[in-house]
Amino acid sequence: MRLMRSALLWAAQNQWLSDTIPTLPFAKRAVRRFMPGETLSDAMAAAERLRDERIGVLFTRLGENISSLAAADEVAAHYATVLETDAARAHGHGPIEISIKPTQLGLDQDPEACFAHCEDLVRRCAKAGSWIWLDMEGSAYTDATIDLAERLMKTHDNVGIALQAYLKRTAADVQRLLPHRPAIRLVKGAYDEPESIAYRDGPAVNANYLALAVIIAGPASRGEARLCLGTHDIDLIAQIADVTRPSGAPVSALEVHMLYGIREHELRRLRDVGHPVYSLVAYGSAWYRWYMRRLAERPANLVFALRQLFP
Ligand code: FDA
Repeated sequence: MRLMRSALLWAAQNQWLSDTIPTLPFAKRAVRRFMPGETLSDAMAAAERLRDERIGVLFTRLGENISSLAAADEVAAHYATVLETDAARAHGHGPIEISIKPTQLGLDQDPEACFAHCEDLVRRCAKAGSWIWLDMEGSAYTDATIDLAERLMKTHDNVGIALQAYLKRTAADVQRLLPHRPAIRLVKGAYDEPESIAYRDGPAVNANYLALAVIIAGPASRGEARLCLGTHDIDLIAQIADVTRPSGAPVSALEVHMLYGIREHELRRLRDVGHPVYSLVAYGSAWYRWYMRRLAERPANLVFALRQLFP
């Protein structure tokens, strides 16, 4: 299982596969399980359906490690359009929140340009009553992403960041961010990281996830952090709810974020018992790497993908 995960994550980085697989019809059919479509209007249609069901919506346009600052400018302009389009359509629903990857906004090319794009989007989100989330990419970017988040959080209160429970450093990152009343989306972690810096077996990752959630929900945050459980692990969510309840945290203090197309029935059940819930809707044509990470999370998905060879 671990070997299969590593193989899929290796394939995610392979250029030839990345150029070839997205052109194959069966792969296009398979990826539809996790995304409503490639266009913004496909994502908007999904957002309308989800919000009618009282499920909050996060948008991410797929793409990472872009190759020029011009591409980052285009991504930033796209998210500005998303916020404007949504403002015209929200009809009393909560606004769409956006989830971006720093390397999609120029982190590799020019960290200052990346910061400027992020800050502009933070302001646009604030105007719309919305939030911006920084996804956490591979460990080569952890320091730069935490720096970016901290800088933005110092002057804006609608900035969130994904932190990965598989990284051994994350408890220290939480302590660093807590004074800024952060929004933290706690995820297990989707990349292939070495044992020297990451827990590599499931129980250790889960134990760290639980410990981190307790810190963020506990007295150290003075109730000022927005804790979002970015996971489909229902047992872990229940465990965290049990552990945090005695300290007086209401069910509504535990927000749950899941990926579009995964365990939606559980998301609805959690909504019905009082958790604020969100679905992260991914769209766009640059889905290959992201899709390979979804396969690596659950290699059984590979069987589903291969079945699409014979529609
Ligand atoms: P786990 O892998 O233990 O899965 C629990 C159960 O959920 C499985 O048994 C299965 O039933 C179901 N499940 C999980 N993944 C599935 C899949 N792909 N297909 C079908 N069923 C699946 N990572 C990261 O490194 N940086 C980031 O910024 C983010 N951002 C992010 C946002 C949100 C909203 C979510 C939900 C996740 C992320 N992730 C992420 C991904 C995260 O790190 C992790 O890889 C996945 O969420 C899978 O782990 P689970 O927590 O769901 O647990």
